[in-house]
Amino acid sequence: MSGGLFRRKTIQPTPPGEQLARTLSWPHLVALGVGAIVGTGILTLIGVGADRAGPAVILSFIVAGAICACAALCYAEMATMIPASGSAYTYSYAVLGEVIAWVVGWSLILEYSLVVSTVAVGWSGYAVGFLKGLGIVVPAALANGPGLGGIVNLPAVAIIALVAGLLMLGTRESARVNTALVLVKIVTLALFVGVALPHFDVANLHPFAPYGYGAPVGEGGVKYGVMGAAAIIFFAFYGFDAISTAAEETKKPERDLAIGIVGSMLACTAIYMIVAATAVGALSFTRFSDSPEPLALILREIGQGRIATIVAAAAAIALPTVLLAFLYGQSRIFLVMARDGFLPSGLAKVSKRGTPARITAMTAVFVAIVAGLAPLDVIASLANAGTLCAFVAVAACVLVLRRRDPQARRPFRTPLAWIVAPVAILGCCYLFTSLQAVTQVAFLGWNAAGLLLYLFYARGRARIA
Ligand code: ALA
Repeated sequence: MSGGLFRRKTIQPTPPGEQLARTLSWPHLVALGVGAIVGTGILTLIGVGADRAGPAVILSFIVAGAICACAALCYAEMATMIPASGSAYTYSYAVLGEVIAWVVGWSLILEYSLVVSTVAVGWSGYAVGFLKGLGIVVPAALANGPGLGGIVNLPAVAIIALVAGLLMLGTRESARVNTALVLVKIVTLALFVGVALPHFDVANLHPFAPYGYGAPVGEGGVKYGVMGAAAIIFFAFYGFDAISTAAEETKKPERDLAIGIVGSMLACTAIYMIVAATAVGALSFTRFSDSPEPLALILREIGQGRIATIVAAAAAIALPTVLLAFLYGQSRIFLVMARDGFLPSGLAKVSKRGTPARITAMTAVFVAIVAGLAPLDVIASLANAGTLCAFVAVAACVLVLRRRDPQARRPFRTPLAWIVAPVAILGCCYLFTSLQAVTQVAFLGWNAAGLLLYLFYARGRARIA
């Protein structure tokens, strides 16, 4: 351990009273990964991406996917070397030092919270539409936050309460429900591709890249082009990092984490390529780009209304898997930060069922407030900013440790690490610069506030101080 702002944490076994039950193996983790990855990104943001890049959104998917694949490999190396809860925060604390770990932890809080809030609001949109189809009308004032003229987004709050309750019951039970819902998602996307692909028309791909390949600034500071879209589409790819937060509850961390992280990432990249190509080929992107339910809209436009309803219903049923994975991850990050002394220690208590019930409840209240009140658009890109920061830190950890401790045991070695990790770092930095200026400023503001909290509160309480 070194001193000052850059003191490093030696990863110790968790004290008995605070240990989480080891109940998960790799199929659970692949399911947890796919459950966390496939969500609002492919179901909804594909429209935003097409709006910004045109049919070339396919390239945006490839760019974001390639950067995430590099980051995923780095995550697998770090998660198997340091199979302890806390993901990028824990790796940074052990490798890069306390102040960087704090920034990463603080960014992860932003990422996980805003993903949960965003997806809950997105879910609410699908659910309200689906209920309307059944003749049950949710009043607009109770289905929208103040930003959209309502009072509170009640369905979003309700779904968070439900998922949090499930998590508090116990991890394995939750993982089982998760696996079933993951299957629903995959079948839904397969149904979309099966029905829409026969309508593929090459004419829909022209012009292919109407806004170019960079990230030109358009109206209202919005960034267009392939890279502008990639910075948003990035949202669709992450979630595999949530798996690494489950390290402490994994039966054989070395094998299971590597398979879970890399496997779920590869599976999702393949699924997205097929879905994106099908979408832009089946209908001109201008006709679905501003839809809150682009895949259902495409199906309706090609005369498949019944299938569109099934897809919408399945989306509402299956989207909670993303909430489950991120709420799970968020509570574990909080837990580890509390154990490190950065948050009140009473919060780190584990319930009789082996789950951190208090922290799960606290996190749920926080994300429900954001979901109930905050508008959607900027939240998703802010979540991206937090994630990009964590990815950069993890790739940097890989390189630093390769130098500092080349002989250390590495159950999973990132192939071509000196190419893969720098590509992850530079790619994430480039995506960050491709985000809207207002998002970049908000992210820096969040971290400036976090650093003040660290200097004047958390630093003195750190357990290793
Ligand atoms: N990748 C997750 C989603 O698209 C966050 O919903």
